[in-house]
Parts: sequence; structure tokens; C-alpha cells
Amino acid sequence: MSETILVTGGTGFIGSHATVVLQQAGYRVLILDNLCNSAISVLDAIAEITGQRPDFVQGDVRDRQALDALFRSRAISAVLHFAGLKAVGESTQKPLDYYDNNVHGSTTLLAAMRQAGVRTFVFSSSATVYGDPQKLPLTEDHPRSATNPYGHTKLVVEDMLENLYRSEPGWRIARLRYFNPVGAHPSGLIGEAPQGVPNNLMPYVAQVATGRRPRLQVYGNDYDTPDGTGVRDYIHVMDLALGHVAALRRCQQAGQEMLTVNLGTGVGYSVLDMVKAFEQASGKAVAYDIAPRRPGDIAACWADTELAFQTLGWRATKDIREMCEDAWRWEAMQAARAG
Ligand code: NAD
Ligand code: UD1
Repeated sequence: MSETILVTGGTGFIGSHATVVLQQAGYRVLILDNLCNSAISVLDAIAEITGQRPDFVQGDVRDRQALDALFRSRAISAVLHFAGLKAVGESTQKPLDYYDNNVHGSTTLLAAMRQAGVRTFVFSSSATVYGDPQKLPLTEDHPRSATNPYGHTKLVVEDMLENLYRSEPGWRIARLRYFNPVGAHPSGLIGEAPQGVPNNLMPYVAQVATGRRPRLQVYGNDYDTPDGTGVRDYIHVMDLALGHVAALRRCQQAGQEMLTVNLGTGVGYSVLDMVKAFEQASGKAVAYDIAPRRPGDIAACWADTELAFQTLGWRATKDIREMCEDAWRWEAMQAARAG
């Protein structure tokens, strides 16, 4: 009988890909999602990819009663916690929503886990906790800071997890700091589906390639980088998903564990590198203008990946060609479906 993993936010971008690889690794997945930023049809797509429909409960991680009922009704062995809000700009407009979803959501979930005796927890943190990098590549011991409410919520939950780990024996916790997740499952059946105008580079570029948006605005070409545009560590979402399985396994093998690791590739690409790679992958032109810098942006950011390799035996393997090809397949299939 395979183990059941509770995946919060499992119909979202990263959670859906993690669900696929968990199922393929032999786990049973139970998704809890309130569908505030994803669609129920993702379950069909996952079933089409893996041949197995994940169990699904529509609910909110802030709903303690629902969580208690869930833990009572199922033998859950670990929780992967993706549910949360993630738009940096929106977080400055609606900070209370962000603290409520991301911090209160996490405390409620952890309290329910504690009561149920489930103590294995994998948390979606972010490279945003490094603030403006003092040196590159970013190692996990780099000082942390935040410049916006979203980033603060990640810092708070990271600290809360450390406190919880120290408070009593038996917790097995992984804090995974994602760099810039992009791409999609190679089937084109699941991917990133932002509502409204995308905030992030890759979905925006993809929508320019399909003709849904006229031009990309490149936010600044006067940074201290090789071509002046911002440099980031883009990681294929399938690599990222596999990093979660590695972290889960590591936690499950330990009596207790407190892991904090970067999930990135260790390589930085500029905005214009990504535009070129996307043009090649899609065969479509991506028109762009140079625009002013976006407030709060940093020049460059990429991960030191050694700790992830040493502790998890995991490395990213997919390059930007695959990231762009898979993102394009997903975007083109979506555009075709929308007519
Ligand atoms: P996403 O919005 O696609 O997925 C999040 C899912 O959580 C959605 O399906 C949404 O409906 C659900 N959700 C939100 N609040 C909920 C709540 N209170 N209760 C139940 N479900 C809720 O986002 P994603 O890109 O898949 O991100 C997943 C996690 O990874 C988030 O915690 C995010 O902060 C973190 N992260 C994402 C990125 C990125 O670039 N995508 C980078 C670093 C960290
Ligand atoms: C952003 C968030 C970060 C979050 C991450 C993943 C900000 C300031 N940071 O990171 O906290 O963890 O998303 O969700 O929002 N770009 C353009 N034109 C665009 C969009 C982006 O030129 O239309 C550039 C940006 O200036 C940057 C690069 O593309 O240089 C990547 O941007 P983006 O995809 O938004 O990610 P981050 O800014 O790294």
C-alpha cells in the first residue's frame, strides 16, 4: 500500500508538476486546494499524464476544522505545502491577504499536522529571501532580507519552521528556496496559467509569441550584467518537482531533519537570452521594447547548487532550450484550446 502525501496547492503551477512526479515515484497524492489561482481541470490533465487521478479536496489551508477532518479521514505521512499567494506587486497592495494566506495558512496547517502526529513537511520558500545579493552564487548561508510583504511572509514561515523544529523532537522539515521556475510538463497538458497580465517574464514572453500580447517590456538594460538586462537562474519546473521528491525522501529517512536548500541550476541567463531562446524554440518573433527598471528588481541572481547535490543527490538537468520548448508547447496548446 503506497503512502499518501498531502499536497496543498496541488492544482497550481508547481504543485501540479510535483503531483505528477510524486505519483510516478509511487506515492499516492491527496490535493487540498481552494482553487483561488488554479482550475479543477488540472486533475484531468494529471490523470492523463500519469494514468492516476489524484484525490482532491476543495478547501482552504486556513480552515482548521477541514484540516482536522482530512487528517482524521486519511493516513497522511507527509505534507508538501505549495498553497499560498505569490504576486509581489499585489502583496504591497494587499499585505493582510498575504500574511493571512501564507503565514496564518502555514501555522494552521502545522498545528493540524502536530495534532495528527504528522511531522514531515516540505515548504515552498523562495530565493526572494536573499534580498539584493551581496555575492554570487547565492549560498544558503547568505544573509536574508525582504523588501516586500510577499518576501516577508516567506521569512516568517522559514523562521517559524526553525522554531518548531527546535521545540520538540521528530520534526522533519525541508525549506526549499526556489529560484525562477519556468517551463511545463513535456506533454503540454499542465503548465503555468497566470490570471490576467503575467507578472513574470516567461509567461509574458510566451503570450507575446502566441500573439495574445503585442510586445514585451524589458525592464531595464542598464544593469551591471553582460547585456545590461536582469539575470536570473531559471529552473525547469520538472527539475524543481524532482527536487521535492528528493527532499521528501531525505526527510523520510531521517529521525529528525531541518534542511534548507536552494533549488536552482547555478546558471544565470539575461532577459534577452531568454527572449532569444524562446524565439528559437517557438519559431516566433518576440517583439520587445526597453522600458525603465521595475521597482524592487535586482540586477542578477543565481544559486549555488552544491548543498542540494550533497544533501539530496539532486541536480537540475534541463537546459533553457527545454524550458522554452516545453513552455511553448503548453502555451500553444492552451491558445489552440481557447480558439
Ligand atoms: P500557484 O498560484 O500556481 O499555486 C498555488 C496554489 O495554491 C493555487 O492552486 C491556489 O489555488 C492555491 N491556494 C492559494 N491559497 C490557498 C489557500 N489559502 N488554501 C488552499 N489553496 C490555496 O503558485 P506556484 O507558482 O505553483 O507556487 C507555489 C508555491 O511556491 C507558493 O508558495 C509560492 O510562493 C512558491 N514559489 C513560487 C515561485 C514561482 O516563481 N512560481 C517562486 C518561489 C516560490
Ligand atoms: C519575481 C519576484 C520574486 C518571486 C519570483 C517568482 C519581483 C520583484 N520579484 O522574481 O519575489 O520569487 O518572481 O515568482 O517581482 N522582466 C521583464 N519584463 C517583464 C517581466 C520581467 O523584463 O514583463 C524581467 C525582470 O526585470 C527580471 C526578469 O525578467 O529581470 C525575471 O522577472 P520575473 O520573472 O518577474 O522574476 P523575478 O523578478 O526574478
